[in-house]
Amino acid sequence: MKPREAIIGPVLCVVGARPNYMKMAPLLRAFAAEPSMPRAVLVHTGQHYDYALNDRLFIDLQLPSPDINLEVGSGTHAVQTAEVMKRFEPVVDDLKPSAVLVVGDVNSTLACSLVAAKKSVAVIHVEAGLRSFDRAMPEEINRVLTDQIADLLYTTERSAHDNLAREGIAAERVVFVGNLMIDSLHAALPKAVAPEETVRRAGADPAVLRDPKGFGVVTLHRPSNVDDPATLREVLGILGEVAQRLPLVWPIHPRTRANIERNGLGHLLGNPRLICLPPQGYLEMVGLMSRAALALTDSGGVQEETTALGVPCLTMRANTERPITIEQGTNTLVGRERTRILACVDEILAGGGKRGRVPELWDGRTAGRIASHLGAWLHTRAGVAA
Ligand code: UD1
Repeated sequence: MKPREAIIGPVLCVVGARPNYMKMAPLLRAFAAEPSMPRAVLVHTGQHYDYALNDRLFIDLQLPSPDINLEVGSGTHAVQTAEVMKRFEPVVDDLKPSAVLVVGDVNSTLACSLVAAKKSVAVIHVEAGLRSFDRAMPEEINRVLTDQIADLLYTTERSAHDNLAREGIAAERVVFVGNLMIDSLHAALPKAVAPEETVRRAGADPAVLRDPKGFGVVTLHRPSNVDDPATLREVLGILGEVAQRLPLVWPIHPRTRANIERNGLGHLLGNPRLICLPPQGYLEMVGLMSRAALALTDSGGVQEETTALGVPCLTMRANTERPITIEQGTNTLVGRERTRILACVDEILAGGGKRGRVPELWDGRTAGRIASHLGAWLHTRAGVAA
């Protein structure tokens, strides 16, 4: 085996926003343990920068500090994407990577892929091929475009292969490896923080969690649910009604919190059975999800994590790019249909609800599969023996 750096350039591993970190953490550990992999350089675009959305998750996931931080911060989609591109280009020029590896579907994912592709640097997309078929979601645009310019695409479920084939992407570029989120979930479960402790630390009374029905966990941050004031009011009304059935614990995303305050809807949070927390760390979230009677969410990651945990999940969206969580897992799409949501909650509390099964290769060993495949792929591409 040749020394890593001497043969092929480093792999720039890009993160930008919260859902990227759970995927990158196990991957970096597996890369460090895989002799055929060149050096990995962690690049943070700075899309997320708050302690709660960023630093705390780095600690929980034992992610190393980024080697490079582009510090782009918030902005409109165009500004944010353009700023990442402008700041990432000189990094690529400087480090001459053999590949740029991106995960998921956030603005940073597309921005860095575009820079790399135009410089003929290989683009590796992890979590490729997922489709909601809803172009009103910024993430869907990011997914479709990133996949089109990626050289190597790793997938979490087999439906992704059909989507990519339909879009003309050659099958030999696509590899089914499973779901990195579950690698992180398995690593976190033994260290998860008890929900009582999470609620107490946030200054709320944990006694409410002793309700005989248990408690539900809520996460909501999609623009389609939280940006329009009338929609947001409707969502908060539904949460209030669900909270009459079982207490809810809701770590509120900054985007959602800002919209609640801007639109004068704060009074709708004044319900003792709706426990509102600041954004939580990963170990707190895993603790909440693993003990919850149900989850009510619009997050992609929570749909996957609850499926792996066997916890019923009601997804407040019209669609999902993760159909396996519905077909095999515990997920049900409920949109914002009040009566449907309440009926589903009642069914779950009566002992029904989906239990599901864990999908193929969601086994906590995806990072190792990617590391050994990618190491060999990079050597083949560079024309040297691994
Ligand atoms: C982004 C991703 C979304 C992902 C989500 C997880 C895109 C298009 N969206 O959405 O796919 O599910 O992250 O959180 O990339 N803000 C803070 N602190 C921060 C970052 C953001 O307060 O550290 C606030 C700012 O007001 C900002 C707003 O949140 O304007 C939205 O942030 P942004 O990164 O644009 O999108 P998210 O809604 O977080």
